[in-house]
Amino acid sequence: MAIKSGSIATVYLSLLLPQLLLLLHGAAPAVLGFTRGDFPEDFVFGSATSSYQYEGGVDEDGRSPSNWDIFTHEGKMPGRSTADVAADGYHKYKDDLKLMVETNLEAYRLSISWSRLIPNGRGAVNPKGLQYYNYIIDELVKNGIQVHIMIYQLDLPQVLEDEYGGWLSPRILEDFKAYADVCFREFGDRVSHWITIDEPNVASIGSYDSGQLAPGRCSDPFGIRKCTIGNSSVEPYIAVHNMLLAHASVTKLYREKYQVAGKGVIGISVYTFWAYPLTNSTVDLEATKRCQDFMLHWTLRPLVFGDYPQVMKNIVGSRLPSFTKAQSEDVKGSLDFIGMNHYYSLYVNDRPLGKGARDFVADMSVYYRGSKTDPPPGYGSSNDTIHDHDRIDYLKSYIGSILTALRNGANVKGYFVWSFVDVFEYLSGYGQSYGLYRVDFADESRPRQARLSARWYSGFLKNRETDVQNELSMAAEELQYLLNPTPQGLRFMVRYGPGGQPASACNLHTAASQHTTRHTL
Ligand SMILES: *[C@@H]1O[C@H](CO)[C@@H](O)[C@H](O)[C@H]1NC(C)=O
Ligand SMILES: *[C@@H]1O[C@H](CO)[C@@H](O)[C@H](O)[C@H]1NC(C)=O
Ligand SMILES: *[C@@H]1O[C@H](CO)[C@@H](O)[C@H](O)[C@H]1NC(C)=O
Repeated sequence: MAIKSGSIATVYLSLLLPQLLLLLHGAAPAVLGFTRGDFPEDFVFGSATSSYQYEGGVDEDGRSPSNWDIFTHEGKMPGRSTADVAADGYHKYKDDLKLMVETNLEAYRLSISWSRLIPNGRGAVNPKGLQYYNYIIDELVKNGIQVHIMIYQLDLPQVLEDEYGGWLSPRILEDFKAYADVCFREFGDRVSHWITIDEPNVASIGSYDSGQLAPGRCSDPFGIRKCTIGNSSVEPYIAVHNMLLAHASVTKLYREKYQVAGKGVIGISVYTFWAYPLTNSTVDLEATKRCQDFMLHWTLRPLVFGDYPQVMKNIVGSRLPSFTKAQSEDVKGSLDFIGMNHYYSLYVNDRPLGKGARDFVADMSVYYRGSKTDPPPGYGSSNDTIHDHDRIDYLKSYIGSILTALRNGANVKGYFVWSFVDVFEYLSGYGQSYGLYRVDFADESRPRQARLSARWYSGFLKNRETDVQNELSMAAEELQYLLNPTPQGLRFMVRYGPGGQPASACNLHTAASQHTTRHTL
């Protein structure tokens, strides 16, 4: 599927779907030229999963349905896929913890399922849920793997969606705070990094503008499908507003009640892509800045300076909620670090502001493309090979660029590969595989296989550059039963769902510092 500029649906997809990195700063070096040891001692390399995408076990041990269970059971995902079993992390976590140790992970980020921990959304804590997360956290600590917890990664207890519309209501603030309080109280002694909310910007656009993510709300003509309920012109802004307020209140709670100096920090993660102007025309330069203001500074500017970007206020007008003075004070500075979920960069050019009703995308009024030449490169075909050379190149280039950024003075503290094992992807179900470890979703027991990227990462973290050719033959030997030898040598393709690609992704934790934010905001 190619990204076409101009079509609303594909603009969303280009926002949301990862693609191979097209615009790396400098090509991948043939030889790595650096080692783990070149990074600061306190820099961490990790990997991540998230509760709904990884766990499965959706109706076990007292877990209540999340909004994603409802959404997927309504058949709204590609291939009508659900995460009822997903990577079966609810049963396979012990094996995965062993793999984490083998991979030499220095940190692991997981998210907590609110529906598993507090099935009614508020009130009683589910002991089985506590037990599950406590076990994982204890094992990580025992093995010297830093614990990063995402409190909320898009899976809301459906009961709160039904009761008051979830993130659309300020009533979420109190429930989110009480839920976070349980997390801090129960797990806080062992957690080094707390991330309150995953990608408020994209979560809101997907949930309330395009309708691609649960609870799947939108209004004509803006959704990717016809929604029965929603308002794409106002709801994305309301949801982000409530998420920012919720983030601020939870951060305050953590700082006042739980944060012990030097022990834990708290932040948020935002979806980012870098935007380059397609041309140097004034309108395109402005469009590029506007794009960053809408995508990135929509969430980050309030968290650092206490208010939305001026250009958003001008364009969105009364549809953009405003902060009271007290709220502004609360959100301002409510970060110890910023998590940046970054996949690729895009070229941006101006799109005149439309007349009539507008949604978030129409308000932002830009066109995107993945390359300067039209048509842009499309996605590869279905491919979940374990011989993921492209991905190793991506990781090498990306990690190399972080080192360059560090040497240029950027305050970067860690790097997390998404994802540790293949999971249910929020946009594509099982159509895309990101795992360092492949999961065979067609097999009931969900076996894992190391991809070459897992071997490479593991070697890198031991200060060793892995010889990928060598690894390739090792992997081949181990997986004889799947191999299909051809005269050209050993090759194999594994069947997979439609539309997949050997994609890569990563999360980058950057510390918020006045120095860097002043330049970017
Ligand atoms: C969305 O909400 C705005 C502001 O309340 C209203 O003017 C508009 O008509 C609504 N649109 C839809 C499709 O309901
Ligand atoms: C825009 O100007 C910059 C700086 O002069 C230059 O590096 C860049 O190549 C120009 N971009 C285009 C698309 O002309
Ligand atoms: C699958 O990916 C591998 C590694 O990136 C590549 O060599 C192979 O050609 C791809 N196969 C298809 C059918 O795209």
